[in-house]
Amino acid sequence: PKPAEVSRRLLAWYGRHGRDLPWRGTRDPYRIWLSEVMLQQTGVTTVIPYYERFLGRFPTVSDLAAAPLEELIELWAGLGYYSRARNLHAAARRVVEVFDGSFPAELEALISLPGVGRSTAGAIRSIAFDLKGPILDGNVRRVLCRLYALEQDPRASAAERFLWARAEELTPAERPHDYAQAIMDLGATVCTPRSPDCPACPLEGLCLARARGLEKALPLRGRK
Ligand code: ADE
Repeated sequence: PKPAEVSRRLLAWYGRHGRDLPWRGTRDPYRIWLSEVMLQQTGVTTVIPYYERFLGRFPTVSDLAAAPLEELIELWAGLGYYSRARNLHAAARRVVEVFDGSFPAELEALISLPGVGRSTAGAIRSIAFDLKGPILDGNVRRVLCRLYALEQDPRASAAERFLWARAEELTPAERPHDYAQAIMDLGATVCTPRSPDCPACPLEGLCLARARGLEKALPLRGRK
């Protein structure tokens, strides 16, 4: 599949089928960061009320940094993976102390924040700053495993390198904000784990897994 054709189709699809989610009305890096950390291990419908409550209590990163950790943990109750709440607090303090209260846009600086890995950093760069920021979260990983018919455990290091290289080349320099949302929405709503809706997919004609009848078999489940 040619990268320019993939991104062209995804952007056209997103214009018609993209979801309207609370964090889509903003480019505030603080809000984008908060939503991405919450979405790392938790689904959209669960996240929405938590996201709203957090912003009601902590409208800015400075408010979050100034709050006692116990208060964050209390607001986080029910979301699980509490290390995320501790990292959130530490990252907020770092943004205030090291970056003067403004989120950085550079990949390295973003990754220096606790709880922000390469994929979350890519999401913040693209969604908040409209800069090229490749993403390889769970949804994108599934889409790419199918698009390229990757018949390897996607967590193996060679597969991981391959997938990051594909994520890099697919992410367009034009409209990275829309592209990031588009590929995550495709994974969440069409290219779903158990029953992908291939006839509704803008990439159907390009998808190697679909061509080989492997769309439900991929990605391979790694031995845990
Ligand atoms: N999952 C992770 N980030 C997301 C986003 N920005 N929109 C929808 N689902 C997501």
